[in-house]
Amino acid sequence: MMENVFLPKLAKIVKNEKMTAMEHFLRLQLLDKKTAEEFQYNLGQFIEISIMGVGEAPFSICSMQNQKYLLDLCIRSGGRVTSAILRLGEGSLVGVRGPYGNGFPLKEMEGSNLLLVAGGLGVAPLRSILQYSLKNRAKYRDITFFYGIRTYDTMLFRDEFNSLLAGGDESGCKFYLSYEDPKDEQCLLLEAEYSDRCMSGVVSKLFERTEISPKDTYAIICGPSIMYKFVGQELTKRDVPPERILISLERRMRCGIGKCGNCIIGDGSSIRYVCKDGPVFTYWDALHTKGMI
Ligand SMILES: Cc1cc2nc3c(=O)[nH]c(=O)nc-3n(C[C@H](O)[C@H](O)[C@H](O)COP(=O)(O)OP(=O)(O)OC[C@H]3O[C@@H](n4cnc5c(N)ncnc54)[C@H](O)[C@@H]3O)c2cc1C
Ligand code: FES
Repeated sequence: MMENVFLPKLAKIVKNEKMTAMEHFLRLQLLDKKTAEEFQYNLGQFIEISIMGVGEAPFSICSMQNQKYLLDLCIRSGGRVTSAILRLGEGSLVGVRGPYGNGFPLKEMEGSNLLLVAGGLGVAPLRSILQYSLKNRAKYRDITFFYGIRTYDTMLFRDEFNSLLAGGDESGCKFYLSYEDPKDEQCLLLEAEYSDRCMSGVVSKLFERTEISPKDTYAIICGPSIMYKFVGQELTKRDVPPERILISLERRMRCGIGKCGNCIIGDGSSIRYVCKDGPVFTYWDALHTKGMI
């Protein structure tokens, strides 16, 4: 008999930790050992998490694959499903479907500089690629990370990013931080200490701080939709080809596998399903698909 593609696998919440007022870090472990072993994913893919009687929602996997088959997620509480997930204690069970979507072209990016640009919660899928590229440091040239936050209180994975900031180039990654509230005291302290790597303003301002080598760089952007336009323009000004600028999109989804049509964007012959053709698209796609950014 054919397997029902909508049937979720059971996973246990092994960690549920508050990171900020809105976001939690969640670590899941698939219950069945064989399922866990077969659960191979590309960085940048997403999974559907369900709670019986409440519903289902897509989330980016925010860690690289590890030998213990654990899945890390960073979830912002917003509506019915997200707030119900975040209320669950450690040891509770959820359903998992996936992994879905295309993910980042890791092989294609080997030998290039990587520029990762994250705004707010957009850091979730980019953390996985940061972990991977630092673990496989020899495969990439310069790794630069731009992270834009509103205030220090909204900064996700604070310990990890503070340690990149403190580590400077020795950390393997040139990490830059921008913050939007110019009066935020903790951000001002960070700026006083790391004035070359931390500044107030929106994330696209960080381009003032570093040189980009256009033909050897892959840029990946993830954050609020307005960011794609502004960061895309900065990269275009610096001659980074639109095929080497990748964006990771979020759209309302239902099935996650190209069946319901809920996530379709574009028109005419350039219709794209965010769930199965994406969520990673090139900036070239964005410029040629109606409603993508
Ligand atoms: C590929 C992909 C990856 C994602 N990764 C993450 C992640 O790593 N962490 C995370 O916290 N969230 C992520 N999301 C968003 C997450 O799926 C939604 O926040 C979730 O579906 C909301 O469900 P809910 O039942 O809690 O909210 P609902 O009760 O359905 O809605 C609450 C409010 O949120 C708005 N909303 C719901 N879904 C979206 C959406 N996709 N985009 C914009 N607004 C929305 C609704 O319009 C409404 O105003 C991702 C979405 C996609 C498509
Ligand atoms: S979410 Fe159903 S087709 Fe994409």
